[in-house]
Amino acid sequence: MSLKKTIKDVNWEGKTAIVRVDFNVPVAMKPYSHEIYTISDDSRIRASLPTINYLSSAGAKIILITHFGRPNGKPNKELELTPIASRLSELLGSSVTYVHQVLGEEVTSMVNQMDKSEIIMLQNLRFYEEEETNSEEFSKNLAGLADVFVNDAFGTAHRAHASTEGIAHHIPSVAGLLMEKEIQFLGGVLDSPKRPLVAIFGGSKVSDKTHIIERILGKADTILIGGGMAATFLKALGKQTGDSSVEEGLIDFCLSVLSKAESNQVKVCLPKDVIVSTNIHEPDKSKSVDVNSIEPGTKIFDIGEITSNEYGSVIGNMETILWNGPMGVFEIEAFRQGTFAIAKAIAKSNSVSVVGGGSTAEAVASFGLFEKITHVSTGGGASLEYLEGKELPGIASLEDKRG
Ligand code: 3PG
Repeated sequence: MSLKKTIKDVNWEGKTAIVRVDFNVPVAMKPYSHEIYTISDDSRIRASLPTINYLSSAGAKIILITHFGRPNGKPNKELELTPIASRLSELLGSSVTYVHQVLGEEVTSMVNQMDKSEIIMLQNLRFYEEEETNSEEFSKNLAGLADVFVNDAFGTAHRAHASTEGIAHHIPSVAGLLMEKEIQFLGGVLDSPKRPLVAIFGGSKVSDKTHIIERILGKADTILIGGGMAATFLKALGKQTGDSSVEEGLIDFCLSVLSKAESNQVKVCLPKDVIVSTNIHEPDKSKSVDVNSIEPGTKIFDIGEITSNEYGSVIGNMETILWNGPMGVFEIEAFRQGTFAIAKAIAKSNSVSVVGGGSTAEAVASFGLFEKITHVSTGGGASLEYLEGKELPGIASLEDKRG
């Protein structure tokens, strides 16, 4: 992938930046509070601070734009950005003016009166259907508010929307510092890793990971598999998996992965023991069993201790670690040990570690180990697509560095 221009390549004196951030943060609803929701994880807001601070110090006028939730092109009181703008303002230690529109006279006149280093945040972009349809006119009007477009929304870079792709056709467009960091780490982990490289995959479905697994087979030295998706691999090896959800259509895929891995001399490790229970609502009935003894009427909800220890020692011997997908249902105490063990092993190692976002990032944050990982991606779907080697429209549309 060609190198992209960044905010460091622009002279910001007297310029206005329209900055696409991804403040689509996890929230908890507060039905009886004056607040519409509370932010349960502000990592995405924190991750945008270097870009905002850089632009502010360089004297740029800053217009922030983001989506939040999926309001389907219609205004929605519950998805207004008030708590997000306040949290950003708290983190920056300076004021952020929230304007309840994206376009129109009020916005234009505010933008015209902005002082240098002033920050405003416009309304939730997805209140306008033109955002997701990538309307040419909407993109042009957004571009008309500023001199330079800055895309720092790595988490939304896989969407070709007006604010992530369309706008870049109308004004000079560069990457923010978060976008630059995501490209550097997610690209580097597969393109030029220090060896040995281990890839750890979990999550519920093999079908979500087929492309990345195929790609990694030519790159990793070891692959560790856990999570619900391990059930399909175990079934492919002829094991009984009880009532675990198995993707029958992917049994052949799993067998071909195992055989390709053997020819490429890539070691693939599957769980030796797992935590099973009758169902997710009965964690008190959970028990650890050998993978050869999974009984009918039980389902896999985590990897077991023997597997956690084995995976932990593998991780300890690696120079580069890529992790995407939890080992079990970490949100439930009885099923979190496997994911916690992997996170601890990575945190303890001195290797370069990259965690693909989404639920894996949430798990790492919930264990308080965020700071111990070299890079935790802010992208869920975006990080997976990037690691699969796909070109993301929000990155492709930015200007290339010359020379
Ligand atoms: C995300 O949370 O993955 C991004 O913000 C994209 O959101 P979307 O899946 O609603 O497009």
